[in-house]
Amino acid sequence: MMKWTKKDVISIRDLSREEIDHVLEKSARMEKLFSQGKALGLLKGKILGTLFFEPSTRTRLSFESAMLRLGGSCLGFSAPEGTSVEKGETIIDTIKMTEGYADIIVMRTHMEGPARLAGENTELPVINGGDGANQHPTQTLLDLYTIKKEFGGLNGLTISIVGDLKYGRTAHSLAEALKLYDVNLRFISPSDLRMPARITKELLDLGLSVNETSDLDVSGCDVIYSTRIQKERFPDLQEYERVKDAFILDENILKDLKKRSIILHPLPRVNEIHYDLDKTAHARYFEQAKNGVPVRMALLCLVLNVRF
Ligand code: CP
Repeated sequence: MMKWTKKDVISIRDLSREEIDHVLEKSARMEKLFSQGKALGLLKGKILGTLFFEPSTRTRLSFESAMLRLGGSCLGFSAPEGTSVEKGETIIDTIKMTEGYADIIVMRTHMEGPARLAGENTELPVINGGDGANQHPTQTLLDLYTIKKEFGGLNGLTISIVGDLKYGRTAHSLAEALKLYDVNLRFISPSDLRMPARITKELLDLGLSVNETSDLDVSGCDVIYSTRIQKERFPDLQEYERVKDAFILDENILKDLKKRSIILHPLPRVNEIHYDLDKTAHARYFEQAKNGVPVRMALLCLVLNVRF
């Protein structure tokens, strides 16, 4: 078993294949421990600070749930409104203040980069809960965990990432993690919302099969990873209106799916997946969100150097 040495979890790019696989193995162990009632107490006395400068349901609540299920406590905020940031306090000063109140920080921002800066300016471990259009590493860990639970591993799978690949941080983090595995990738997006060229080039340079298209063709895919068009990141709302319903997964795709294909989505969904698909054997997005709890429980323990 490897020893975890990372203080912060800021970008999936910071994690090696060995480290990612370690988190996934530890998440499975944590899920089992929790089901046996043996996880409570692992983080007794520890406090998680959740500093969310941008809206969240799943990331914040599942981190809080993870900490509470481990016997720890949580404090924090879910929006800058009501905090001293409104009076002009900087995010870094806010982080420095939290050093006196918590043992570990999870933060989310509209901007790209503050989580990295925060990690460099505090002794506390910092976990990035999403920074702008950049990264969402813990979402990726739970995405990989969900896929691994379903298929037993990642190698050999054909995975489509569908939707807003330009602004979608979950798409970026996932693609950057999948470069470490032997997978076939299909990037399906409107032409204006393609995966950043830097990411696609890196995958191609590594020898992965990457197919970029604007056709909603998911035939032959094992995993269809749908994502929301990120309205809040468009400089021009007219442009958003033009593409917002570009790729809606509905019963028309069922004929193209393999019996074991699964549909994932980091959620929230807006129009991307029709409710009719929820009751099909392919839908896994709610299980995926639920998997965020054992993954984040495992990660909190790893980062706080608590053995389990
Ligand atoms: N998947 C995800 O990040 O969801 P929230 O925005 O609700 O946290």
